[in-house]
Amino acid sequence: MKRFVTLAVLMALSIYSIAEARVKISGRGAKMNFSPETIPEMYKPSFDLLQAKCVKCHTMERTVIAVQTGRAPITGQPFNKQAVKAYGIKMLRKPNSDMSKKEIRDIVVLLNYLLDENTR
Ligand code: HEC
Repeated sequence: MKRFVTLAVLMALSIYSIAEARVKISGRGAKMNFSPETIPEMYKPSFDLLQAKCVKCHTMERTVIAVQTGRAPITGQPFNKQAVKAYGIKMLRKPNSDMSKKEIRDIVVLLNYLLDENTR
């Protein structure tokens, strides 16, 4: 019973923290994504790019959680603007990433915007 209560509290907290975040999120788990309404018109093409290119090897959940928490979910490294750039390059260099430098740059600009929105 105690364990169940702890679990319930943890779940409530995680839902609460998602609800509190500035950047709106839709879906959960593998379906998690940034809500389209949080993406300004000028960033839509970059958002399309992000959704097309960054889901080849993992789901959007990884990127969403990194932006939301300010921490990269796998390594636990801080996920700030400097890190976004480094990750962009890291993902670009991965074999079969199928991304150009220009596409990465657009995605980095978008992620920086989302980071700003989330910490405002
Ligand atoms: C070619 C496969 C591939 C593509 C394409 C890819 N990723 Fe990844 N991504 C990985 C792998 C593998 C990891 C696991 C950790 C690592 O190798 O850095 C990862 C990890 C991550 C992490 C967590 C990093 C950490 O240190 O916790 C983030 C955030 C991320 N990716 C975002 C992105 C974004 C944004 C894009 C699109 C620009 C993208 N990924 C495209 C393979 C890919």
